[in-house]
Amino acid sequence: MCGIVGVVSGKDVSQKLFSGLLNLEYRGYDSVGMCVIKDKNFKIKKDVGKIEQVNNKVNFLSLHGNIGIAHCRWSTHGGVTKNNAHPHTGSRNKISIVHNGIIENYSEIKGELQKKKHVFSSETDTEVIAHLIESYLDIYTFEKAVREALKKIEGSYALGILCADEPEKLIGARNESPLIIGVGNNENFISSDIPSILTQTNKIVYLEDKEMAVLTKDNVMVFDLEGKEKKKKIHIINWNAEAAQKSGYKHFMLKEIYEQPRAIADTLNERVQNGSIVFGKEFGFSNNYLSKVNRIVIIGCGTSWHAGLVGKFMLEELAKIPTEVEYASEFRYRHPLLDKSTLIIAISQSGETADTIAALKEAKKHGVKTLAICNVMGSSITRISDGVIYTRAGPEIGVASTKAFTTQLAVLYLLTILFSKLRKTLNKTQIKDMIESIRKIPLQLQSVLDEYDEILKCAELYHNKQNSLYLGRGVNFPIALEGALKLKEVSYMHAEGYPAAEMKHGPIALIDKSMPVVFIAPHDVYTYKKVLGNIEEVKARGGIIIAIATEGDKEIPQKSKHTIFIPKTLYTLSSILSVVPLQLLAYHIADKLGRDVDKPRNLAKSVVVE
Ligand code: AGP
Repeated sequence: MCGIVGVVSGKDVSQKLFSGLLNLEYRGYDSVGMCVIKDKNFKIKKDVGKIEQVNNKVNFLSLHGNIGIAHCRWSTHGGVTKNNAHPHTGSRNKISIVHNGIIENYSEIKGELQKKKHVFSSETDTEVIAHLIESYLDIYTFEKAVREALKKIEGSYALGILCADEPEKLIGARNESPLIIGVGNNENFISSDIPSILTQTNKIVYLEDKEMAVLTKDNVMVFDLEGKEKKKKIHIINWNAEAAQKSGYKHFMLKEIYEQPRAIADTLNERVQNGSIVFGKEFGFSNNYLSKVNRIVIIGCGTSWHAGLVGKFMLEELAKIPTEVEYASEFRYRHPLLDKSTLIIAISQSGETADTIAALKEAKKHGVKTLAICNVMGSSITRISDGVIYTRAGPEIGVASTKAFTTQLAVLYLLTILFSKLRKTLNKTQIKDMIESIRKIPLQLQSVLDEYDEILKCAELYHNKQNSLYLGRGVNFPIALEGALKLKEVSYMHAEGYPAAEMKHGPIALIDKSMPVVFIAPHDVYTYKKVLGNIEEVKARGGIIIAIATEGDKEIPQKSKHTIFIPKTLYTLSSILSVVPLQLLAYHIADKLGRDVDKPRNLAKSVVVE
């Protein structure tokens, strides 16, 4: 996820662009760049690093012009280098572009352009768009050249585009990545989201997929890709600046819960190619090495440790690899028994958790290979590990981890497919079914997010309870742990996650008429019938049953006071869907209690102390 902003104005734009960038930094901070047009020439400054760091080096405000674009990067294609920083230009320096998204057919287009002697200076998919538009400038106008290029590219994009020969026009275009238009006085704006321009204007036009906008300082026109003009409504935004950072959501946590379909789609993007799993060059492990791995030890803390438990289920059940999951804080003091055929996987959203870093260093002393699953480019854990798979959840601001968790599960699932193929534990049909199933998850997740009435009802009824139990079996036992953790850390209500069958061995003594008991009980061939029995046991003692069940399930609703349905999917993938109602339940209970949801007491987003 990256941030883009553009301005065309009767006045100088560098300060407007710079303040816009500062408000967009949460969307990505690997590198940053800015381009203005002066005397029909591009003036570009860009470098690796956070916005303030790079500004101290290059002084963005020394760029002067009445039109410009700017970008802060969250790398997806190409490493974190100055060459890969946006903006990018074409061979003849006639087009300058910034981009948020992933172009899926960029390699093919790049090859065609290289045959026409285009020379590229970066590894990015974005630069290909600049060259492509430029290649059409000889036969089309700037606007038509953009339209023709957009018809050719496949994938997600939010674009800001300048043409040196038409310094009064700024073009914005979008497909699947957010882009909005700001309508100002004697100036107009494009941006990835509202916060970055709210101090300049509160008149917003929302672009839809496959639309492009042509802005001058006095006019905004929107077209489809056939050049047909679209009439658009101007919305008046009445958020304050801090609210706007949350794009209208009351808290970052809620925004990030709702970002999960996009975050998972981004995490999957480009990693499933022709039925094979392809991780970036930062993954760094050969198939030959992976084929020799005969044990995996996953280390992590908190929610990341819960992700590891789900990963264990996937890796053992499907790839038949013995997998242990360790609290990083315990692992590091246990003198673990490791050998060269063991792969250590460190899971961390922040990449800065002290216990996980220490555990990783302990593991490396044993000479074993280490793989990080991490959400922050270039963080400590990614630099210590031999290989990295990035979750592409975008910055997670809320202390309670949500989108990072589900994207960790998505990565673990892809890794399981890779190992299953190499170890031949699954046949082609099973692998194909797994890939098709995970591709459906973003849309299925969206359907879960759209159905939250029952969750609001539960939050209303039970937000004053003192205790609750979360019960699940198999791959959904870690989800019971995660649901309980979410509730504890944002609402301060005590909750405990347990294997459903274990409840009989003690915790059942807690159950009375005031105890909400959440069962994660999607339909599966393994333990569904047993879970029904566990529900009966709780019901017989008066517990309040809240169940997560598979759409179409007729038995669970008859036994439960509340049933929240999730779409049918493969058993291991049900964990990604079943956690979301629990995230929402924790959020709404905490919100009803008036808690500081994004910054709960005693907690920090990244526990950098041991
Ligand atoms: C999760 O909601 C918590 N904020 C916490 O348990 C967190 O998962 C843990 O501190 C690990 O953080 P990391 O993923 O950044 O390493």
